[in-house]
Amino acid sequence: MKFPDGFLWGAATAAYQIEGAVWEDGRGESIWDRFARTPGKVYQGETGDIACDHYHRFREDVALMKALGHNAYRFSIAWPRIFPEGAGRVNQKGIDFYRRLVDELQGAGILPMATLYHWDLPQALQEKGGWENRETAYRFAEYAAHMYEAIGDAIPCWITLNEPWCSAMLGHLTGEMAPGKRDWASAVAASHHLLLGHGLAVQAYRRGGLKGQVGITLICTLCEPATGSAADRAAAQRHDGYANRWFLDPVFLGHYPADMLQLYQPVLRPGLIQPGDERIIGAGVDFLGLNYYFRNIVAHDDAGLLQTRAVHGPGPKTDMGWEIYPHGLELLLGRIHQVYGGVPIYVTESGMANPDRVGADGTVNDQVRIDYLREHFAAAHRAMAAGVDLRGYFVWSLIDNFEWAFGTSKRFGLVHVDYETQVRTPKASAYWYRDWIRSQSGR
Ligand code: FCB
Repeated sequence: MKFPDGFLWGAATAAYQIEGAVWEDGRGESIWDRFARTPGKVYQGETGDIACDHYHRFREDVALMKALGHNAYRFSIAWPRIFPEGAGRVNQKGIDFYRRLVDELQGAGILPMATLYHWDLPQALQEKGGWENRETAYRFAEYAAHMYEAIGDAIPCWITLNEPWCSAMLGHLTGEMAPGKRDWASAVAASHHLLLGHGLAVQAYRRGGLKGQVGITLICTLCEPATGSAADRAAAQRHDGYANRWFLDPVFLGHYPADMLQLYQPVLRPGLIQPGDERIIGAGVDFLGLNYYFRNIVAHDDAGLLQTRAVHGPGPKTDMGWEIYPHGLELLLGRIHQVYGGVPIYVTESGMANPDRVGADGTVNDQVRIDYLREHFAAAHRAMAAGVDLRGYFVWSLIDNFEWAFGTSKRFGLVHVDYETQVRTPKASAYWYRDWIRSQSGR
């Protein structure tokens, strides 16, 4: 199984999940600082205050990536480090941190891929309505333009948003994530303003005249009907619209899917989607970042706006309870390739949670993660053999980290973190991945 030369192999992280140092060097409050402090929202009341202390240990972490043979790294920039109040005053110390990180990566021969928004909205903007407020899209584009100018010379790959579906739906519909709302109209409004912000940030990148690439990361899921019945097939189609097409279509086709516009009609705020918005959202990206974790098996249900119900799949489950289904990655890549005109794709997240422990001999035996990765790489390879233009693969995650509402209770890392001592211990999967990358590059 040989991947092309120049294929990117690395791991991904996100600022709030690893950095800690949330009150340091002028960083402003984010919606996750606030949410984590709200009783009952995060496992055992944990916060990202310290997380993996990466803000102080980034040199050690970059050295780890180098030792593990990674040739690329996907990280995110904390907007509230750059604009503590969301807009206006710039905090130079925040920019300096990312400049140091990027310099360190370059010195190690690791290509930096930066995500501008991985869910940590400045709280000051939330006070003004957050993503429900159209103005936030414009503030996001200003922040993006500022970052391109500040460190764009050193970053060949930019991602505007990470998983706007999660920001919109988990943040505003199910309330599982910051800012913790539970309202369809809020969720749909947030989704549109996130996408508008994405489009404006792409336009800003083009205006800046930089030579790199800009794209968006979407979490996509394979939607399969629970049975062959017409009702279940229609339900799977609706779930696909809600989870995938509502985001993919405007970005790659320049318009929202008609069936979903109709379905959302009762919850669409008047004037939400303004003339010209879809053209901005469809401004044209250089690649899609795809995050893949599981498939959805969907049945019809009379209740709710979507009238769908999730059915558990038969396969083995990860520590998150997510079904392991590598074949879904192959099918999803193939479908996206077909429907969206052969767009270049990076898998920007793929991985699994496992209750990993450091054994008495000092090693972490996560054979199950090795199998997981091997099978998902094989699925990606089959998709490429069928024509998919896949350019890189980022395992989620480099190190165990603060898994949002699950806090530190879920371990996704290639590298184990002891949160008491901050000691990093590469798991068996980290060494397996190192050897895999080595064999791919023929070194
Ligand atoms: C994705 C998120 C990432 C992490 C993984 C497990 O949805 O982008 O931050 O939480 O799931």
